Formats: sequence, C-alpha cells, structure tokens
Amino acid sequence: MIDVKNLTVYYGSERALDDVSFTIEKNTTCAIIGPSGCGKTTLLYCLAGLLAPLSGNMTVGGQPISGIRLDTALILQDYGLFPWKTVWKNISLGLQVRGLDKAKENQIVESILRELGIEKYKKKYPMELSGGQKQRVAIARSLALKPDLLLMDEPSSALDAITKEHLQNLIVKLYKAHPMTIMMVTHSIEEAVFLGQKIVIMDEGKIKMILDNPHFGDEDLRNKQEFYNICLKVRQYMNSGDQDE
Ligand SMILES: Nc1ncnc2c1ncn2[C@@H]1O[C@H](COP(=O)(O)OP(=O)(O)OP(=O)(O)O)[C@@H](O)[C@H]1O
Ligand SMILES: [Mg+2]
Repeated sequence: MIDVKNLTVYYGSERALDDVSFTIEKNTTCAIIGPSGCGKTTLLYCLAGLLAPLSGNMTVGGQPISGIRLDTALILQDYGLFPWKTVWKNISLGLQVRGLDKAKENQIVESILRELGIEKYKKKYPMELSGGQKQRVAIARSLALKPDLLLMDEPSSALDAITKEHLQNLIVKLYKAHPMTIMMVTHSIEEAVFLGQKIVIMDEGKIKMILDNPHFGDEDLRNKQEFYNICLKVRQYMNSGDQDE
C-alpha cells in the first residue's frame, strides 16, 4: 500500500528526513515513534501529498504521490475541525463536497455518529467538546469518506491516560470493522505497541529500526506480559546509540 524509497526532505538548509525507506502492506497498521523533531510529522505530510521531497520515491496503492489523494484521510494534531460548524456539519461536509444525495449523507452521518458514540454531541460546536470528544469527531469525519489510508498525527497526545486508552481501543475496533491501512505518529511507546502491527522507530530524520508486532489486535494486550516485553524492546531501540552522542 505504501512504498517509500530513499526519501529526503529539507526545510531550507535543514534536513528533516534523510534517506528514509520502508513499505507498509495494505490493510495493516503502522506506528511511527521517535523523539520530538525527528521528522515524524514531516513524513506524514509527504505521504499525505502536502509536502514534496527533495529526492526519493513514494507510492500509495501503486500510484506515485502527486498532491492530495481522494482516498487518503489525514487527522492532524489539533484535529482540524471547523469551529463555526456543528459536529454534524463537520462530519457531513466532506460528503456534501463529494456530491452525495441528502438521504445517503444523513444515513452515513447517523451511522458513524452511533459507531463512535458521539450522537449526543451532534448539534454541538467543537469548542463545546472535550479533547477526546473532538478527536472522535475528527475520526468520524475522516471515516465518513471511507478512506483506504488513514494518517494520524499523535491522535491521543492531548488526552488523559484513561481517555487515551479508550480512544486506542476505539481505533482497534474501527480498524477491525473497516479494514484500511493506518499509519500513525506517536510519542508514546505503549500507544505504538497497542496500535502498530509494525513499529517504525525514527531518530534525527532516519529510521533506526522497524519492529513487527504480532500481538496487535488483542484488545486485552495491556494486561499481558508480552505487551511489556515489546514496550521494553522499543524503549531499548529508542535509547540505543544515545551514549555515542
Ligand atoms: N515548516 C518548517 N520549516 C522549517 N523547519 C521545519 C518545519 N517543520 C518542521 N521543521 C523542522 O524539521 C524537523 C522535523 O520536524 P517534524 O515536525 O517532522 O518533527 P516531529 O518528529 O513531528 O516532532 P514532534 O514530535 O515534536 O511533533 C525539526 O527539526 C523541525 O524543526
Ligand atoms: Mg510532529
């Protein structure tokens, strides 16, 4: 689904990504983790077609990325909701833009509100919602368009520990109900291990390590020793090499 080869990105004279290569299979999930400033958001922007690299090749679904793609959804850190529109309007807007008839639009919005447990907020405005509720609206808005690739930048970073886990559980449930390729950026080792079938560890614009996580999809994973074993492994890779610097 995603094939990235030798991707290099500069902002002015600063190199943000340095010869990054990886592939992500269709309908699998991938978590990107690494310290602040290592290039995670930059990589997501490139995949979303919002940023052109200096060099390298990127394809999504076999097609080279050349600008914004209709079936790719991007959820940014600040959710990107329209403050002057209600929850309902925020979710339905993309469907309207695509010319869906009103009945179909209502049906999709209703069912997605129900699935994400945000029906009772449908007439509210984003500023009347908590961070976790806003994040669910942002996900609802993306899923309404049935993307085959969902890109998320730190989906739970602004949330408290329990809301974070609820959102992570919700993402796994949604993924199981609607298989799609998911690529998410996170600062949290636990989140990466819970949500990533593949865990990409980045540092200073480069990929340090890619781990496969066979335990993805187990909703009870946090209560198991294997979860902590992989977390520890990720932590060790993230810290490896630091002493040389
Ligand atoms: N628009 C920009 N102009 C100039 N430099 C930028 C710009 N955006 C990012 N950078 C620089 O590129 C590097 C990578 O930034 P990026 O936002 O991709 O990091 P990140 O891994 O997402 O960090 P964080 O975890 O803090 O969100 C950083 O050194 C940053 O200062
Ligand atoms: Mg970032």
